Amino acid sequence: MCGIVGAVSQRNVINILLDGLKKLEYRGYDSSGVAVLNKNKELSFYRKVGKVQELSNLVENKNVDGGTGIAHTRWATHGEPSEKNAHPHLSNKVAVVHNGIIENYEELKHELISSGYNFKSETDTEVIAHLLDFYLNESKNLREAFFKTVKRLKGAYGTVAFELNNPEVLITARSGSPIVIGLGYDENFIASDQLALLNVTRKFMFLEEGDIAEIKYNEISVFDVNGKSIERDIIESNLKENATVKGQYKHFMEKEIFEQPQAILDTLAGRTLDNDVLVESIHYDAKEILEKVEHVQIIACGTSFNSGLTAKYWFESIAKVSCDVEIASEFRYRDFVTRPNSLLITLSQSGETADTLAALKLAKEKGFMATMSICNVAGSSLVRESDFSFMTKAGVEIGVASTKAFTTQLVCLLLMVTAIGKVKCKINTEKEHEIISSLKVLPKQIQSIFKFDKDIAEISKDFSDKHHTLFLGRGEFYPIAIEAALKLKEISYIHAEAYAAGELKHGPLALIDEDMPVVVIAPTNELFEKLKSNIEEVKARGGKLYVFTDTESTFTDEENTKVIKLPAVNHITAPIYFTVPMQLLSYHVALIKGTDVDQPRNLAKAVTVE
Ligand code: G6P
Repeated sequence: MCGIVGAVSQRNVINILLDGLKKLEYRGYDSSGVAVLNKNKELSFYRKVGKVQELSNLVENKNVDGGTGIAHTRWATHGEPSEKNAHPHLSNKVAVVHNGIIENYEELKHELISSGYNFKSETDTEVIAHLLDFYLNESKNLREAFFKTVKRLKGAYGTVAFELNNPEVLITARSGSPIVIGLGYDENFIASDQLALLNVTRKFMFLEEGDIAEIKYNEISVFDVNGKSIERDIIESNLKENATVKGQYKHFMEKEIFEQPQAILDTLAGRTLDNDVLVESIHYDAKEILEKVEHVQIIACGTSFNSGLTAKYWFESIAKVSCDVEIASEFRYRDFVTRPNSLLITLSQSGETADTLAALKLAKEKGFMATMSICNVAGSSLVRESDFSFMTKAGVEIGVASTKAFTTQLVCLLLMVTAIGKVKCKINTEKEHEIISSLKVLPKQIQSIFKFDKDIAEISKDFSDKHHTLFLGRGEFYPIAIEAALKLKEISYIHAEAYAAGELKHGPLALIDEDMPVVVIAPTNELFEKLKSNIEEVKARGGKLYVFTDTESTFTDEENTKVIKLPAVNHITAPIYFTVPMQLLSYHVALIKGTDVDQPRNLAKAVTVE
């Protein structure tokens, strides 16, 4: 959440900063700001509530020209979205932007007020600006003052600052919030995400936790917390050029839904041979590790949590390994018992979710056999802090509501389940081949769902004026119903709940009336007859039903019941497959409602604060 861009160059950097902010807008979008310094030490400083476009409009015609600058797009944590709370924050001699939360800001604020500083905002960030100014008075040296400042900060931060009197130097620190340096010719850049800089460079240096770096147009110096000079690798980005453009699509979410066949193909590549799972593609030592696993503990947040819930069914029914799934923000604050030979799996699109990271750090002290992350961002904090990682190859996901990251997580989880089942001899070759071959045909099968896009768009009209929706599923389709309800809530702002269909009679039946559509995920499987009875319970009470099933089922349209029949697929991969029509349904409802699909109100793509 929140995005940072910085540049130090011989040319004017204002457009680089604004363009970078636009690329990061999905991380935070309630206000933004920019501070640019020219060689004559003249400062241009603008902040604006709303989207980055508002800031661009404000800056246009102001003839901003300068080679050193920092910019920020904000997702409010401390203090409402307002101009005074937007970053950068200025103190007498410095300008600062910051991602994260300074936990001891009240104590620092108190101290700074007694030293004569006036606070103009309600943010925690302003303490960094004043503290840096305070130490600059003492030492007159930016680097020295910055080290002293950083030593005083508790919490998570990725921060960039410059001194108003010292054009051509940016200073940055990473602690709990990512910072990447982009290398150019006679210019260098800083950002919280490489996506912001793809238009100006493809060479990056990822700072590690605790790193501090000083950046000039022709020089980059990196230091550890003690001020010792250190080297960091320079990496050529392999992100595709079109990763951050919508192309023919109206929204990133739409693009990402339609990218799923390719994302699944990419995720499977190199991980299977014929119809065998390649265990060593998980980790060179995977066989040895997985053989010992007696329990799997999954930790995640949001959509990633829902993929964990789905995988629990697979771990227990296919690999015969017990599995618990827990929300990271709960797990990290309770006393839990670590079972013998437990493998901890964290699931995350971004690899930067603060609660998931904290849960991982805690788990490492609590005797887990090994920690593994299934993640979409190489080099992210979660990947770096886990013993090993199994990457989803979804490509950049920009829509705040996660789609292709979810389905590719499920693919990785199913590969993991197959690998554990195989090395522990819980599945035979026939089963292994069944799973892998059904994963391989999945991209094509998902492609065939897109032919139903128009039908789904048609039924979405029935939802747009409703205030509530109920999603039902059984077995591993219950978590898919939970994910479907989450998607509808996130982007259409309709209250939606998911229930295990067998639980209807214990409460939710009381809610059934013609104003609450009921969506049922009903593939033909061993629970189909049970689910049919649950559907009858809804029908008998006048509920309006939308049944997503397959061509093998006997459901037909009738009064108050609309049926979408998709081509039947293997029951093991069916949860991944049935996710897609649910994504399309919420997307079309949101389109009709006219909400901000890619940047829904109050939400952020990566939640890097608690
Ligand atoms: C935020 C996003 C969700 C995401 C969740 C977990 O809430 O809006 O789409 O599922 O964070 O994020 P992660 O990156 O850890 O999967």
